[in-house]
Amino acid sequence: MQQVKFFSGEQIPLELHKVRIVQKLNLVPIERRYDAINDGFFNDYMLSTNDIYLDMLTDSGCNAMSDNQLSAMMRADDAYAGSQSFERFHHGVIDVLGKKLLLPCHQGRAAEHIIAKSFVKPGNVVPCNYHFTTFLAHVQEQGATVRELLCDGATDISSDNPFKGNMDIDKLKACIEEVGTDNIPFIRMEASTNLIGGQPFSMRNLMDVRKVADHYGILLVMDASLLGENAYLIKMREKEWKQNSLAEILKMMTGLADLVYFSARKLTSSRGGGICTNRQDLYDVMAPLIPEYEGFLTYGGMSVREIEAMAVGIYETTDETVISQSVEFIKYLVDSSVKCGIPMVTPPGVLGAHVDAAGFCPHIPQNEYPAGALAVALYLCSGVRGMERGTLSSFRDENGVEKMADMELLRLAVPRRVFTLSQIKYVVDRLHWLYENRELIGGLRFTYEPKVLRFFLGKLEPTSDWPRKIVAKFRKDFGDSL
Ligand code: F0G
Repeated sequence: MQQVKFFSGEQIPLELHKVRIVQKLNLVPIERRYDAINDGFFNDYMLSTNDIYLDMLTDSGCNAMSDNQLSAMMRADDAYAGSQSFERFHHGVIDVLGKKLLLPCHQGRAAEHIIAKSFVKPGNVVPCNYHFTTFLAHVQEQGATVRELLCDGATDISSDNPFKGNMDIDKLKACIEEVGTDNIPFIRMEASTNLIGGQPFSMRNLMDVRKVADHYGILLVMDASLLGENAYLIKMREKEWKQNSLAEILKMMTGLADLVYFSARKLTSSRGGGICTNRQDLYDVMAPLIPEYEGFLTYGGMSVREIEAMAVGIYETTDETVISQSVEFIKYLVDSSVKCGIPMVTPPGVLGAHVDAAGFCPHIPQNEYPAGALAVALYLCSGVRGMERGTLSSFRDENGVEKMADMELLRLAVPRRVFTLSQIKYVVDRLHWLYENRELIGGLRFTYEPKVLRFFLGKLEPTSDWPRKIVAKFRKDFGDSL
């Protein structure tokens, strides 16, 4: 994708796939979109895809599957125990991730549950480059906490640091000295750090973290859900690895971790999840929990068809044309938006383009959820559904005090090989219009606030009738256009 130069000089990402199965989309009028988001309590998780034009909520389980994955699903070996489908997936994990022992789980958070239950004790501290929502929930459920040790400047919106997902090694050492090795079950490194804008860590940094882990005798756990993209950006941005294949980089990365877990919904363009390791002692602690919480050791709560898709998808993770597609589309979306003056997280990361809602709507206080409000406003003016990644996705402490997020982001996910370039241009256009009309956007407040992972099921209302004002201005500017 990178290598193709256009005679015109224009830089556009070129698709190295063709579309053979398509799904019809609806672009409903803005008045219908208003009713839909109103009926969904201004939480875009509640929308029906009938009312959505481009679903940029997530890439999770939404990446396009390949013809090879779909055909593999037809030969699935339906067996509770000893399924050939699982064996094929297991071989893939050995080949691609270099780990001999594999535990299947129904998705990434199930892996987090098993890992937290196996290793995290009350009062423990888990150092990580950054938390992920579901991982944090499982750690807190065990009565423990996380310590976020990102490098300085990692949460700066605009930056030229190619590896904002790096862990600060001095902070890590200081944390271990302060907390004590007995209180640290493991260090967690998340590939393509999701919540700060899909930002990668470097191989150098991972090696340095490994050295510290070895020095103190602490386990290193890697969340590999977005491993392929992190490896691709290492290849693109870390000159020592330019000549290596994606497969070599992937294996080097996983080789540095004692335990690797993943959401296959992201990693392999399918469903499911898994935990893998070369350490029999770690495997033995976790294995008994799989039949109890997930399913037998050869299906882990997944259908064998999903496992077949994972078995093929794990190899496709080493294919640069597959992995680079979303990354390059995101770069296009971010660069085009920045040209329109829209505040975006830079450098462009993976999984989605991230709009800086705090910079977009500086007039909305953090406790009125600027990123959630921006998600509602963008849906109204475009039918595009993004995902709030800010204080709405945070939580309250035991005293009911809201923990303000470090960043207020609206994530516009770009699942692999799903959207066309004209659709991406449409997103930029509507985002641009909204930016020019940003003073119309107002805040949100909860009318129902769940205690855990409140963003999924929470109900909200606008703090004024600002959504109607957006509808009116849209009609004025766009006439009877959808
Ligand atoms: N780890 C990371 C880095 C993730 O991004 C996710 C999911 C999980 C773990 C949990 O995996 O969904 O299979 O249970 N991220 C999705 C997202 C939900 O939209 O970013 P899961």
